[in-house]
Amino acid sequence: MLAVETFQLTKIFGRRKITALSDLSISVEKGRIYGVLGPNGAGKTTLIKILLGILFPTSGSANILGQPINKVRIKKKIGYLPENHRYPDFLKGGEILDYFARLAGVEKKRRMENKARLLKLVGMEKWEQTKLKKYSKGMLQRLGLAQAMINDPEILFLDEPTDGVDPIGRKEIRDILLHLKDAGKTIFLNSHLLSEVEMICDEVAILDKGKLMRTGTVTELTTPSKTFRFETSRVSKEVIDGIEKYSLQCEPHNGFIQVTVSGQKKLNAIIDHLRSHKVDIKSIIPHKQSLEESFIEILTKDIQS
Ligand SMILES: Nc1ncnc2c1ncn2[C@@H]1O[C@H](COP(=O)(O)OP(=O)(O)O)[C@@H](O)[C@H]1O
Ligand SMILES: [Mg+2]
Repeated sequence: MLAVETFQLTKIFGRRKITALSDLSISVEKGRIYGVLGPNGAGKTTLIKILLGILFPTSGSANILGQPINKVRIKKKIGYLPENHRYPDFLKGGEILDYFARLAGVEKKRRMENKARLLKLVGMEKWEQTKLKKYSKGMLQRLGLAQAMINDPEILFLDEPTDGVDPIGRKEIRDILLHLKDAGKTIFLNSHLLSEVEMICDEVAILDKGKLMRTGTVTELTTPSKTFRFETSRVSKEVIDGIEKYSLQCEPHNGFIQVTVSGQKKLNAIIDHLRSHKVDIKSIIPHKQSLEESFIEILTKDIQS
């Protein structure tokens, strides 16, 4: 059974007919960290809000754990950390967790157990009795994660959980998310921070202007296997000119040559060519694009086409 599945979800807002989502179909397997990436306004928050029943789709449908999203009982199995959440800051950390646990209908004994366990998990046990106005952004987000987990959900929906958090705070949040994944939770994560997503997501969907541009594992989106770095001894201009015959692109750099080829045969031809000119090949490394480079490529292709 899939954790989340959407079928041609479309959302058009208001009289100005802003298309926030357009025919979006995705599926998320259980136990995974699934990242939805996209620039501001791409439709990420709209998607989460539809899945949670806060907004209704203009057309299309979606399931959570095999049930249509309009079934109320599914809400017991989900946790949600909204984007830019604002908890009343005159309350203490422990009071917030209590309050949300009551809203979710968690009975007293489990509420107390979960509160203690989750405060520990997010490293906030010392701050239970401190008012939120004293918390940093990272602490508020960690408390937010505990809030989202207070009803023991199977799936967590997190909207920009690391936005505005400093690098150490981000690492702490990433570690908590990996821990939750190990505990079998499914995590649905919206982010515009590519490097974050790259570090923890099993699978990624790239959205732009409400449209699904690509999905795949981070490896699939970041490894164009056709570009290689040859680390070699000094290479003359003539030899470089020779490589150009076999390659789509050849760029000599300081200490290495970056070559893009159409396939294995061409790669071998380049190796033969270099060896026949007595060039020492120290290494050949497939060049891995960062997710950011792939992302920009995917988005700008759309503009060009
Ligand atoms: N309640 C709303 N009414 C009208 N337009 C909206 C509303 N919510 C979002 N939008 C528009 O829908 C698009 C997608 O927004 P959103 O889902 O918030 O994107 P993201 O979370 O990726 O930044 C944007 O153009 C935004 O202005
Ligand atoms: Mg958003």
